[in-house]
Amino acid sequence: MHFNLSIAAGLATLALSLTFANDEARPGADSIGDPYYPKLGAGGYDTERYDLALTVDMETGSIDAVATITARALHGLSSFNLDLYGLEVAGIEVNGKAAKFTRDGRELDVVPKKPIREGKEFDVRVAYSGVPTPAPDPSVGGTGVGWMRKDSGIFVSSECIGAASWFPCNDHPRDPALFRFTVTVAKPYVVAANGLLVDEQDHGDTRTFVWEPKAPMAPYLATLGIADFDVVVEEGPGGIPLRTYFAKTLDARERAGFALQTEIVEFLELCFGPYPFASVGAIVADEDLGGALETQTIPVYGRGTYDDGTIAHELAHMWFGDAISANNWKDMWLNEGFASYGSFLWVEYAHGEEAADRDMRQRYRMLRRAKVGPPPDPGVAQVFSARVYERGCWVLHMLRDRVGDEAFFEILQTWVEAKSGKTAQTDEFLAHCEDVSGEDLDDFFAGVLFADVIPEDARFE
Ligand code: TRP
Ligand code: ZN
Repeated sequence: MHFNLSIAAGLATLALSLTFANDEARPGADSIGDPYYPKLGAGGYDTERYDLALTVDMETGSIDAVATITARALHGLSSFNLDLYGLEVAGIEVNGKAAKFTRDGRELDVVPKKPIREGKEFDVRVAYSGVPTPAPDPSVGGTGVGWMRKDSGIFVSSECIGAASWFPCNDHPRDPALFRFTVTVAKPYVVAANGLLVDEQDHGDTRTFVWEPKAPMAPYLATLGIADFDVVVEEGPGGIPLRTYFAKTLDARERAGFALQTEIVEFLELCFGPYPFASVGAIVADEDLGGALETQTIPVYGRGTYDDGTIAHELAHMWFGDAISANNWKDMWLNEGFASYGSFLWVEYAHGEEAADRDMRQRYRMLRRAKVGPPPDPGVAQVFSARVYERGCWVLHMLRDRVGDEAFFEILQTWVEAKSGKTAQTDEFLAHCEDVSGEDLDDFFAGVLFADVIPEDARFE
């Protein structure tokens, strides 16, 4: 409303606001702005929910899928962008109306029939199909990340940019959302995914499994495991469901570490505070998956990652990396350094001081000998390097030494409280350490975290 205006001025204002109303809708940014992946993700909207319905043909490896994405427009949107690698898009509807779309590499541009107004919630329904293949990722190399078809079944490990290998998404941890997975597959295959198994329908030759995580998650943390699994269902930590999906060929020795899942989570709760999710478990493949991955509520383990140290690492990620998301991939040490320290704490507790001392001494010598650089901003090719894991872990050990156990665990627990469901970056963690400990830690971090090489420390020589 405009009072006390001359008619002319009033009309001018009206004309101006009409122009703005038209100009308001513009294309959403085609990138979320992560310097390591210039075209990854998108701007102009926030995803709220992914509802993924997939029929998987285990003979051919192909999927027939509909992804319904609910998002909210952050400004008027004349078009917007999603990530999708490979696969064939049959059609897209926005709010129930056919939309135009174009594809260019991993970029899927969608032009809704009518622009979406700022603040409005909208639905995007993408019908797509094909045989998913892993997406190349400069942080990982090799054959890429995401959907993997193996002899025993299908496994999905998407960090950093592989979620787009199996569903259209805003493929960045800065935009977590709720999920539902409705997956249909022929018998005897069984489907595991994140969250709770909320429904299972038997159609005779095929079955449909419906999984639903209760908390938002980053797209790269979404997973499916489809194989003829042995399923072990137990009551887990604090009485939550614990479901472990073992590849049939795994022997008792390979399965043994997973019997410790409840104990590990309960131990980590003493360190980090309450476990952040409503279920827990594991997908354990008898295949080389390039490591284990902290897929939310149900990490995926590949061949050679069945030891309790690795299980503790992946479970520690539930707090650091999953509940708390990285704001940019350059802050990866806030995930990997912390998960590695969680694993170290478990080793200290379960295998004793001597084993823990040996572990830290080895880490110190390696960091000095190989002149391992600072954890923050390691460059995309070193997101999964010793700078991030080993030195990140060392930084926390030194912080504990500097401020003492009480302040150290207070720092970790209040960090989780403050940041769960949010994104985190390095400067925020450093400020948090000073706030909680009441100490000036600038000089400390200048050495341990930022110096080219970690400072000499006679206790570890
Ligand atoms: N984040 C994993 C870990 O817990 C490592 C990892 C990164 C990974 N990308 C992956 C594992 C892709 C398997 C596939 O250390
Ligand atoms: Zn990790």
